[in-house]
Amino acid sequence: MAVDYEKEGRIAIMTINRPEALNALNMDVRRELNEAMIDFRDDPELWVAIITGAGDRAFSAGADIKEFRPGAIEEPKGVEIVSPDQIWKPFIAAINGYALGGGLELAMTCDIRIAAEHARLGQPEINIGFMPGAGGTQRLPRFVPRAMAAEILLTGQRIEAQEAYRIGLVNKVVPLDQLMPTAKQYAETICQAGPLGVRATKEAMIRGYNMTLQEGLKLERELVNRVRSTEDFMEGARAFAEKRPPDYKAK
Ligand code: COA
Repeated sequence: MAVDYEKEGRIAIMTINRPEALNALNMDVRRELNEAMIDFRDDPELWVAIITGAGDRAFSAGADIKEFRPGAIEEPKGVEIVSPDQIWKPFIAAINGYALGGGLELAMTCDIRIAAEHARLGQPEINIGFMPGAGGTQRLPRFVPRAMAAEILLTGQRIEAQEAYRIGLVNKVVPLDQLMPTAKQYAETICQAGPLGVRATKEAMIRGYNMTLQEGLKLERELVNRVRSTEDFMEGARAFAEKRPPDYKAK
């Protein structure tokens, strides 16, 4: 398997598993990752996903350069293609080494990014006569100060994990042996909360990003009304009043 897909309670763990090629994203990885994401989205038992890479060298060194062919990129036909930022359950990227090109672009579609100290991040596509093609030119300038985005995109140079933290590209930098425990801690914290409220919050944040403030507030109101009519909303309030932990059902 090019992607290991495990379920630990409410947490899904997707591990890109081509360490010999620095977890480069070939067709098998893309297909299996897409299938895992669809399963995660549709499995009511799963609330949070973690994406990481096998081994200690790379999260992913990007698109598989050895599969490159001239001509336009063919989108697979008749297959539903999903992305973490189109799924309202949260995704955490555990960056265990290089996150380059499509690897960094994948990490940027996740909601929270934790990096190991030795991780290096970058968009080196221009160095091989190409350009970022999985959202890098659009997401990076929205995530970090514009001058830093321009530097990363136009020099193709890698930045260190601490620099990525300094510019707000990753949430936390930890020693490698703390990477998965930290990602799981984040996931478990999120799983303590009402899952429908979490998902509506992510949906409001992402869909609202390109709206005017007024449109975004209208969207928030619609989602608030939806969450207020759920069983979990009442359970949260009851548990608070009764001083006991809530028992959320995602209903
Ligand atoms: N696609 C296909 N194979 C890749 C790859 C990629 N994006 N990145 C690394 N690999 C392969 C290498 O070809 C090598 O395979 P080999 O052992 O069969 O020769 C193996 O992974 C290890 O990589 P190597 O380059 O030997 O490691 P390194 O420590 O010398 O360098 C990098 C590490 C990340 C600096 C270097 O691999 C690199 O620049 N990769 C390409 C990154 C990139 O441009 N990504 C954007 C693609 S659009």
